[in-house]
Amino acid sequence: MDSSSQWLLLFVSLQLLSGPLAAVVAGGRAGSEEFLERARESEFFEWMVGIRRRIHEKPELGYEEFETSELVRSELDRMGISYKHPVAVTGVVGFVGTGKPPFVALRADMDALAMQGTVVLLFQPAEEGGGGAKKMIEAGAVDNVEAIFGFHVSTNTPIGIVESRPGPVMAGSGFFEAVISGKGGHAAIPQHTIDPIVAASNVIVSLQHLVSREADPLDSQVVTVAKFQGGGAFNVIPDSVTIGGTFRAFSKESFFQLKQRIEEVIVGQASVQRCSATVSFLEKERPFFPVTINNDTLHAHFIKVAGEIVGPGNIRDRHPVMGAEDFAFFAEVVPSTYYYFLGMQNESGELLKPGHSPYFTVNEDVLPYGAALHASLAQKFLIQRADSALQSPSEAHSSSHDEL
Ligand SMILES: *[C@@H]1O[C@H](CO)[C@@H](O)[C@H](O)[C@H]1NC(C)=O
Ligand SMILES: *[C@@H]1O[C@H](CO)[C@@H](O)[C@H](O)[C@H]1NC(C)=O
Repeated sequence: MDSSSQWLLLFVSLQLLSGPLAAVVAGGRAGSEEFLERARESEFFEWMVGIRRRIHEKPELGYEEFETSELVRSELDRMGISYKHPVAVTGVVGFVGTGKPPFVALRADMDALAMQGTVVLLFQPAEEGGGGAKKMIEAGAVDNVEAIFGFHVSTNTPIGIVESRPGPVMAGSGFFEAVISGKGGHAAIPQHTIDPIVAASNVIVSLQHLVSREADPLDSQVVTVAKFQGGGAFNVIPDSVTIGGTFRAFSKESFFQLKQRIEEVIVGQASVQRCSATVSFLEKERPFFPVTINNDTLHAHFIKVAGEIVGPGNIRDRHPVMGAEDFAFFAEVVPSTYYYFLGMQNESGELLKPGHSPYFTVNEDVLPYGAALHASLAQKFLIQRADSALQSPSEAHSSSHDEL
């Protein structure tokens, strides 16, 4: 896990703050294009780049984001934005606006609106497998929030292009670990041992039949064994072997079917070779990530807003991927959530290394796009929300509405 991508969402978000903030405070209902213009002004751009670099110079792992959290808070203080801290250890939740409903949230992203509505800024810890979103929810960070937007940069998409789709965009994911135990002994006298290496090998092959033989070929799923540990000498059969891996699916049903079958196959197949097996799904350390599903109504909203910023021709359909996003936890408690991708491949053709590569770099020219998009998505959401409330006062206080 590389630390620079770890911070991706957080730093991109942070930088976004000042341009749109000033734009909105100055102009109330600023247009989407205006957000991009402001975010590109050298004063704002340099501020964003400076913050990004400061975060990048001091990467901190999940729930240990102490200095980053401090940086976020000092910038919020500087701008006079109130916030709650600590939320989920190092998390920060800022509030821009009246402090009253309706609430729209930007995860790890900042902007501000001087209008009826409140924008909630979620600076979330531990996105890389630590389930930070879940802890933020448990700490009440998104109580009463009606919609949340989140995004990720995409290294192989040209800058100025945005990608998304309605429905599922990222898979649900879980991890498993199993200890397969036999009886160790001398490698030259196998008849006096119960060999867990051969049993584990058969377990792994059988696990590969789950997707190929039991899953609907049109319902994408993954089972990968990525860990195999046991033994250490050339002439000793070990007592036990530990295997572990991940499983992914695009629906709850498929996900829990896989979970059940993984356990059955490991225990059953190990017993064929007279071994015993214990299976753990490590939920405490690595909570299951739900499927990331984009709300249809917010997709239409995104197409409209992004069209104004990057142009309708620069919005691309995003194929779903088997990667998982802990942003998905928000969808379980908030009526509408939306996740999109921002291209940052340099026009000069310089190929950027992918997100989890240790050679990952950021094209800082992407920062104004993220700033403008997030600010505008939240602002337009609140404007439409306010307009629809005016039209039907009876719905003004309902927690969801159909206009958006
Ligand atoms: C999608 O979002 C809209 C607008 O916020 C909401 O009314 C609707 O219930 C959401 N749809 C689903 C399936 O959650
Ligand atoms: C490409 O990226 C480099 C460094 O990342 C930057 O200096 C340059 O301005 C970029 N060129 C374009 C055309 O975006």
